Amino acid sequence: MSNAHLLAVAPQSAPEIHGEFARALIEGLSATPKTLPCKYFYDAEGSALFDRICALPEYYPTRTELGLLARHGAEIARLLGEEVALIEFGAGSLTKVGLLLDALAHPRAYVPIDISGDYLGAMAARLRAQRPALSVLPVVADFTKPLALPLLPEDVRRIGFFPGSTIGNMDGAEALAFLRKAAAMLKGGGLLIGVDLVKDPAILHAAYNDAARVTEAFNKNLLARANRELGAEFDLDAFAHYAFYNPHARRIEMHLMSLVPQRVRVAGHEIAFAQGETIHTEVSHKYTVEDFRALAQQAGFTPRQTWCDADKLFSIHWLEC
Ligand code: TRP
Repeated sequence: MSNAHLLAVAPQSAPEIHGEFARALIEGLSATPKTLPCKYFYDAEGSALFDRICALPEYYPTRTELGLLARHGAEIARLLGEEVALIEFGAGSLTKVGLLLDALAHPRAYVPIDISGDYLGAMAARLRAQRPALSVLPVVADFTKPLALPLLPEDVRRIGFFPGSTIGNMDGAEALAFLRKAAAMLKGGGLLIGVDLVKDPAILHAAYNDAARVTEAFNKNLLARANRELGAEFDLDAFAHYAFYNPHARRIEMHLMSLVPQRVRVAGHEIAFAQGETIHTEVSHKYTVEDFRALAQQAGFTPRQTWCDADKLFSIHWLEC
C-alpha cells in the first residue's frame, strides 16, 4: 500500500543496479556522518515490509489519507476537472489512485512515473485490465531528475498526484526544488499532494517505532540487502533501529546505530563503526498546513483547498499552477 515503490529499485533488474547500490553504500558509509539514500529501502523485501507498515495500528498516514480521498472524492474531482491526465510521482498503491480515478468523470490518461520498471509494468497491466477505457502510459524514470512526459493531447489538463507524504522524505531545499519542477511540468493544471502534519510527538514516535517492530525490520533491511546482494557481513543484532522526532527541525530522523565498536566488510571495503555511531537512513518532515501552503506558493503554485481529518493528523492539498 501507499507509495512504497516510489523509488523502488528492482533487485532482479540488472547487474549495474547492484553496482549502483554498492557504490552508494561505500560512499555513504565512508562519509561523516554516515548516510544511505532511502531509495535503497525498496527492494522486493523492503516493499513487502513497507506494505506491512502501512497497515500497522500506529502508522496513521496511509489510512488517514485514504479516508480523506474517499470522503472528499467528489469535491476533489470537481476541482481537478474533466479530461485530465493524472500524473503520479512514484507508482504507489492502486487503492489510492483507484479512489481518485473512480471519482474523476472522464480521466483521459494515467501516467505513473517510477524507477522500478518491473513494478510499473505489473501495475500498468492490472490497471489496464480493470479500466480498459483508460490510457495507461507508464514512464520509467527518477522523478527527482529531469524527465520527458509522453505526448498528451493539447486539451488535456495535467494533474499531478503525490500521496503518502513522500515530499516529507526530502529535505526543505529538495522539496522546494521538486515543487518548482512539478509546477513547471503541470502548468495550467495542478498538484494534489498528501502531507503529514506536525502533531503530538508521542503519536509520531509510535508511528516510526511500532510495537511489532516492522519499522525496525524495514530499516535493517538496508543492511540485510547489502548482505544478500553484495555479500556484506553486517550482524543485524549489532545495530539498533533508532527513530526519533526532532521538534526543532520538525522531522522524524531514522538511524541505524552501531551498538559496539566494529569493522564490517562491504563489497571489498572495510568500514569502521564506533560504538554509538549511526547511519542516517531517512528523514520524514512534518509540516503545519500554513507552512506547507507557504512552501507551495514559494514554488509557484496557488494553494487552493486543504483537507484534514478531524484529529488533524494528515492533510491533502490542492495546488493550482
Ligand atoms: N513517506 C513515509 C513516511 O515518511 C515513508 C516511511 C514510513 C518510512 N515509515 C517509514 C520510511 C519507515 C522509512 C522508514 O512516513
